[in-house]
Amino acid sequence: MRSEETKLNFPLLPCVLAGMKRVHEGMTSPEDYRRQDWRIVHDIPMVCAFSYHWERIDNFQSRPDDLVIATYPKSGTTWISEIVDMILNDGDPDKCKRDAVFNKVPMLEFAAPGKMPPGTEKLAKTSSPRLVKTHLPVQLLPMSFWENGCKMIYVARNAKDVAVSFYHFDLMNQLHPEPGTWEQYVEKYMAGRVAYGSWYDHVKGWWEKRKDHPILYLLYEDMKEDPKREIRKVMHFLGKDLKEEVLDRIVYHTSFEMMKENPATNYTMVPNDVMDQSISPFMRKGIAGDWKNHFTVAQNETFNEDYERKMAGTTLQFRTEI
Ligand code: PPS
Repeated sequence: MRSEETKLNFPLLPCVLAGMKRVHEGMTSPEDYRRQDWRIVHDIPMVCAFSYHWERIDNFQSRPDDLVIATYPKSGTTWISEIVDMILNDGDPDKCKRDAVFNKVPMLEFAAPGKMPPGTEKLAKTSSPRLVKTHLPVQLLPMSFWENGCKMIYVARNAKDVAVSFYHFDLMNQLHPEPGTWEQYVEKYMAGRVAYGSWYDHVKGWWEKRKDHPILYLLYEDMKEDPKREIRKVMHFLGKDLKEEVLDRIVYHTSFEMMKENPATNYTMVPNDVMDQSISPFMRKGIAGDWKNHFTVAQNETFNEDYERKMAGTTLQFRTEI
């Protein structure tokens, strides 16, 4: 079991310290964590609001039939969550509109004290089989999921499009600190000074783990290229057998255009003092290659050089356009 100590190892300004003190005492109101800097949890930068009482995560008890949906943020979590729910409901769009995706697939580490119920509380009230969303790096996933041999689906997306999507998310998400300029953000992202830490370590960590655990590892770009092919992989992984016309219906209802209009999947049910979608919509562009509209030539060169170093030695390959 991990140490219950939550490490704090970034420079603390007095005003942040005052906020931190309240965090340690237990956060009670959104003002305790709104736009606060990350807190370091087990060496990983974590969303301040999520970081309290971390033992609730370390000691979380899984059930053997839980299905874990794991991703680095902004990699297609909502998309794969809706696909899984559609497959489990035999492609019935009305059944899938029964609730918002963030209630159907609660996020394990989510917390917004005084505002919204934490993920662990929602999961405790969810009947089996449960779908569990998480952005945790592989080494932070509660031990109980490994002990119970739970099935897991991991979706990875190319580093550049994730950076662009994450930047826009930080602009609109009031639980995250302000991202600064795009130029500053790219630096922070490459250094892993963003929520959940290094993209490079995250995708590689889960890639290695699939060798000794039932993890279906998918790529966002493959899903964009041929959604039906990837949905079929998920169907087989879940032990389901659906007719072609049902698969076609799932492709249709989980397209970016349909999910952007669907209140159950477009996050408009989240209060706008948590996610301000007038700044940037949650369902923003949903494409592969948007990075080209944001990276300068110089940023791209620096990023590529750094990428080669960080990804040397892995068999994991990404496409940055399709
Ligand atoms: S989160 O907040 O980390 O859970 O976000 P996540 O759902 O992982 O990622 C959000 C990005 O995924 C895009 N998205 C989709 N793309 C294609 N098709 C579908 N159906 C789809 N649904 C969500 C969403 O638009 C975000 O990407 P960007 O590039 O910002 O548009």
